[in-house]
Amino acid sequence: MEKIFNEAKALIEGAGSPEAVEELRIKYLGKKGEVTALLKSMGTIAPEERKAFGMQVNKLKQDVEALIETKKSSLAGEGRQARLAAEKIDVTEPGRAHSPGTRHMITITIDEICAIFQNLGYSITEGPEVETVFNNFDALNSAPNHPSRDMTDTFYITENTLLRCHTSPVQVRILLEQEPPIKVLSPGRCFRVDTPDATHSPMFHQVEGLLVDEDVTMADLKGTLDLFAKRMFGDKVKTKFRPHFFPFTEPSAEMDVSCFLCDGSDKSCRVCHGSGWIELLGCGMVHPNVLKIGGLDTDRYTGLAFGMGVERTAMLKHGIDDIRLFYENDVRFIGQFY
Ligand code: FA5
Repeated sequence: MEKIFNEAKALIEGAGSPEAVEELRIKYLGKKGEVTALLKSMGTIAPEERKAFGMQVNKLKQDVEALIETKKSSLAGEGRQARLAAEKIDVTEPGRAHSPGTRHMITITIDEICAIFQNLGYSITEGPEVETVFNNFDALNSAPNHPSRDMTDTFYITENTLLRCHTSPVQVRILLEQEPPIKVLSPGRCFRVDTPDATHSPMFHQVEGLLVDEDVTMADLKGTLDLFAKRMFGDKVKTKFRPHFFPFTEPSAEMDVSCFLCDGSDKSCRVCHGSGWIELLGCGMVHPNVLKIGGLDTDRYTGLAFGMGVERTAMLKHGIDDIRLFYENDVRFIGQFY
């Protein structure tokens, strides 16, 4: 029995896995196990020795069972330790940076322009990008032979529908739907068959403004746009109105802003190229022929309108020298503004 115990002890303590321990349990305590065989042999022992023999075999059985239990729990502990080591999480490790994204410069600029005019009481209305030829040209008093109607300037979808080349058709929609006083701002995408370069893109954004009421004058137009320029670019900015032609306004003008970078003092200025002025938008007093589209009495009502390029405004404000940067989606560029 001592020999069996010593051998069992050495084997059980040396077992490397729960499966090996189980095999040893069967070897000693199973139905055909060595300790079980001793218990079964009780009948062959002389009656006077049987009691002492029985006590010894039972002790052997208990000792082997104890060895097995001890080994099982120590192996389970080791397994847990090994698992904990393998699954260890380093809570001090810095987290992975998550980039939440930013608003695009064009969205930011549209929001800024809208906020300035909303403060002046304008409401925001958007029009469709696919327009009728009527809204885009005819109703805007555009002559039938105006060059911008040409297929080489405008993206036509059918003979009567096109991708709008400016936001001015929204003026027509508003005049057909609303009664004066009208005070609306309309941002959106426009499309022109322009070859892409540093200042032109076939798709770009404009913000249109329209105000129609009694006694609206050119002074209101100039005052409104001068205030806008100062809020957008800073109080020191000056504005200048140059005569221009648009079929849908009379008189028409383009508004320049004084160069906020050099104020005309730097002949090599990258923004104004030394002229001291930068063209910002087209504007004018709404042509009576356009007001008549809305059925308005042109002796009673007058209106002012303006349309500005959003990319142009953003480029001037932030010193961006190539319009294509807006559309390339390089996060190093986009992520700079928020
Ligand atoms: C117009 O589109 C007129 N509808 C503006 C207007 C509205 C005048 C209401 C009077 C009353 P113009 O073609 O100049 O005007 O365009 C206005 C602005 O759009 C330009 O100053 C420029 O900033 C921007 N723009 C025009 N074409 C492009 C282009 N291909 N890429 C980027 N911006 C452009």
